[in-house]
Amino acid sequence: MEIARQYWATDSHEHAVEAFYSHGVENYGDFHKGYLNFGLWEDGISDYVVAAENLVHKVAGRLGLTPGSRVLDVACGMGAQDIYIYEKFGPVEIDALDLTWKHLAHALRRAKYGQCEHSVRFHHGSATRLPFATESFTHALSIEGPFHYHTRERFFSEVWRVLRAGGVVALADFAIPRPPRGWEVPFIAATKRLWKIPEENLDSIATYRRKLEAAGFRNIQIDEAGEYTFPGYYREQRRPECRSALARIRGVVGGRLGQIVDHAAIGAYARGLVSYILVRAEKPLCASVQVPISCPAAAAAPCVELSQPVPWPAQGCALGV
Ligand SMILES: C[S@@+](CC[C@H](N)C(=O)[O-])C[C@H]1O[C@@H](n2cnc3c(N)ncnc32)[C@H](O)[C@@H]1O
Repeated sequence: MEIARQYWATDSHEHAVEAFYSHGVENYGDFHKGYLNFGLWEDGISDYVVAAENLVHKVAGRLGLTPGSRVLDVACGMGAQDIYIYEKFGPVEIDALDLTWKHLAHALRRAKYGQCEHSVRFHHGSATRLPFATESFTHALSIEGPFHYHTRERFFSEVWRVLRAGGVVALADFAIPRPPRGWEVPFIAATKRLWKIPEENLDSIATYRRKLEAAGFRNIQIDEAGEYTFPGYYREQRRPECRSALARIRGVVGGRLGQIVDHAAIGAYARGLVSYILVRAEKPLCASVQVPISCPAAAAAPCVELSQPVPWPAQGCALGV
């Protein structure tokens, strides 16, 4: 499968993010099975890959995938999560996109090895300008990507656009529960610069919810999961074997930079400055002009009241999309 490469202006945010993630990616091999997430360290989990796959399972589980679901994964990283979702939640069709070109070489290799290149397709692009037609997907997810996007708000409207009515989005992301005070202000500013987080994305849980609502999403559920993410990830990153593997992969400077980001993240978490959130939201059935007024499912479910993911196509609707 050929992927069309995008090029970002050298002064753009996208260029800076891609440079940040590209250090040594070619050396990554199967370290951490290619996962870059914090992991969800529930129920005594002590192995990184188990924690990483537990997180993917929980996020994908919130989507309510059914056979035939059309899934969009934004910030797919090195593709491990898409192979996992395909194997555990299939049969589904997945289009996965990431900004970092080098990540996609690993993703393609994994899809080929997993013999699922026809159902799991990778794309190079940005979350804020999704290269997909309006209403192409029944479900969308993004794991630890949205805090990087310029901006998260633009991403929300893009996801809204490409989701069909009744579609569901699930996210694993970060929020800022309280404003920084005193010396925390320059600390957060430095972390933001280092980790490539736009100022506009420093959302509290309340502003996060408001942005989803403003994009049109309803039935928004936001759960804090910091206690199951930050401490376990930090423990893993401090293991001497993990440190030396990362120094080998990213180089001495890249490895050090990673350690600084890890310290900043755990420090901010310990001070109640950052939280890890699991999010689920729905695009109401009546949101689409293509839902006929006579659709019984739409009539039975007023747009703000959907509490369950709606199978696609909604039962009894003859939708021409
Ligand atoms: C922390 S990694 C998570 C990757 C993957 N979800 C995982 O958990 O292994 C963040 C990812 O976001 C991607 N990313 C950052 N900004 C992006 C954007 N605007 N559009 C698409 N991907 C983006 C990066 O390239 C990187 O792969």
